[in-house]
Amino acid sequence: MSVAVDELIQREVTPKTWFGVGGAVEMYAEPTNLDALRQLLRAHDRVRILGDGANLLVDDGVVDGLVVSLRHLNQREIVSENRNRVVLRVGAGEQLPKLIGWCVKSNLSGLEGLSGIPASVGGAAVMNAGGKFAKIGGLIQGVRTLSESNVIELGREELHFGYRSSNLGDSVIVSLDLLLERVEGEGAESLRARHREATAYKRATQPMGVRSAGCAFKNALIDGERVSAGMLIDRAGCKGERVGGAGVSDVHANFVTTTAEATARDIIELMRLVRARVLETHGVLLEPEVVIWSNETDPLGAAT
Ligand code: EPU
Repeated sequence: MSVAVDELIQREVTPKTWFGVGGAVEMYAEPTNLDALRQLLRAHDRVRILGDGANLLVDDGVVDGLVVSLRHLNQREIVSENRNRVVLRVGAGEQLPKLIGWCVKSNLSGLEGLSGIPASVGGAAVMNAGGKFAKIGGLIQGVRTLSESNVIELGREELHFGYRSSNLGDSVIVSLDLLLERVEGEGAESLRARHREATAYKRATQPMGVRSAGCAFKNALIDGERVSAGMLIDRAGCKGERVGGAGVSDVHANFVTTTAEATARDIIELMRLVRARVLETHGVLLEPEVVIWSNETDPLGAAT
């Protein structure tokens, strides 16, 4: 590894996450260009990519390996425009809410249904972030990923998106091509109305102004249908349940909220408790949506 790239690495850094608690990572770097990122990937076997930290819990202590933040890879560029169809290339490190704000101002429609979802654009693609109004996968025309040697371009036909999932999990995404529509007049008004509606729905149904990582568990698949994990947790009587500084939100039971005193272990213990209670009440084993970085392979363990 060249000295320049070696110098990028900081030791024992606590990554910024929306939970606002948890431990440090052994090595951390914020490359400012693709070449530096490529060199980091070449030199390290265990590399984790940090998005916006919105759906992430870092275990207490020091988690092994290198974490790379792509926050500097956040450029936007219109790569084609044909009548009202616009293809926008966005760096994986761009923050989704910031991008949505810019699109709404620029009369570019498509992303507004994702308003209020905290994520980096790359992280949103990996988990096909979405909600009641839209999912990002539907807008993605192509993805550029980086291996140790090459930039690989994946077209729409090579991409697969499912409920909170995609076939991009093992890739290092450097940019997405999003298909948007340029609108004006009434089209622009209805774009703004959809943006307001999506924001208002989140405000009305989810805890705001407190620290959380969004939904803790994926919605459950029961008889081929997705059923709200929040509803199942609520009906299992878990609202208000607490472990140390972590609690099940009274507003939406699938949100674990934290106080400044919380530890990652408080959150993990609370998630274990919730999982066990839901299994006991409904016979359903919830799958975590929050990603946990830990030196343990399965920190949530069996639901007992
Ligand atoms: N409900 C309850 N109690 C609760 C929470 C919900 O009874 O504590 C009921 C609601 O009253 C409603 C139903 O469950 O009848 C569905 O609730 P909601 O509209 O909040 O949807 P959800 O299925 O619980 C999903 C996503 C959210 C997304 C919302 C809205 C998952 C795991 N969650 O929640 O995504 O914002 O739809 O579109 O897929 C996230 O992934 O981090 C997230 C917040």
